[in-house]
Amino acid sequence: MNQAVAPPTSGAPELSIPRLLAGQKALVTGANSGIGQGVALALGQAGADVAVNYVVDDDAAQSVIDKLHGFGVKAMKIKADVSDEDQVAAMFKQAINAFGTIDILVNNAGLQRDSAFHDMTLEQWNKVISVNLTGQFLCAREAVREFTRRGVIPEVSCAAGKIICMSSVHQEIPWAGHANYASSKGGIKMLMESLAQEVASLKIRVNAIAPGAIRTPINTNAWNTKEAYKALMTLVPYGRIGEPEDIARAAVWLASDQSDYVVGTTLFVDGGMTLAPGFATGG
Ligand code: BGC
Repeated sequence: MNQAVAPPTSGAPELSIPRLLAGQKALVTGANSGIGQGVALALGQAGADVAVNYVVDDDAAQSVIDKLHGFGVKAMKIKADVSDEDQVAAMFKQAINAFGTIDILVNNAGLQRDSAFHDMTLEQWNKVISVNLTGQFLCAREAVREFTRRGVIPEVSCAAGKIICMSSVHQEIPWAGHANYASSKGGIKMLMESLAQEVASLKIRVNAIAPGAIRTPINTNAWNTKEAYKALMTLVPYGRIGEPEDIARAAVWLASDQSDYVVGTTLFVDGGMTLAPGFATGG
């Protein structure tokens, strides 16, 4: 019998995406799979043109582009390693040349290189910090430069630009065996808040989303067997795994003028994972 467990729908609602972003231009990093793919598609459904960044798997990026075209928006794929300064600069140049500007950056690209601490190599440490944290710095810097150059165009948005940093519940929850990853996410929290404080007066809004356990390739082992899914659910009070669409809807809202007064906030989208679930029956 098939042991796969997180049920295909997991009870997540199917909701349509409101067209809150018509006429805006977005760049989503790591948009060829997982949460990034879900966010890129939702921004397109909300009416934004979308630049799809990826570093591996050209076919997957192309299929995101094809789906975006199906929503009647412009879409382009851009291969670039977010931890490489020159490639990031070239990526923004390409997107801005094609779209005219960028209004929304979703700093999503991230990875894990898990290891017991005493065995963790410097390479594993550096890889995670450079993609997850330095990558967000490099992309945010290019975005801020473009937002500042252009300023507010009231017909498009009340803000000069929006940056959404993809963090994790592990910006708060320590994670044994994942010291590099948790450190990168703790770093994203302070990067996001410091930047938000610095550029708010320029009408640039910087916020973060902290996803919990979302059904994506990064954590397949946490949900693809009955035992794993059951163990995972002891950490999720809401009783289901998250879907990329759960994060995508939050991203659409944070990118839109509906959240205009939301500045420097981390929105936890985690089914209650950060509520110390063990205390529901103990303590
Ligand atoms: C990690 C996943 C993990 C989730 C909850 C995410 O940030 O990438 O692997 O399942 O946090 O622990």
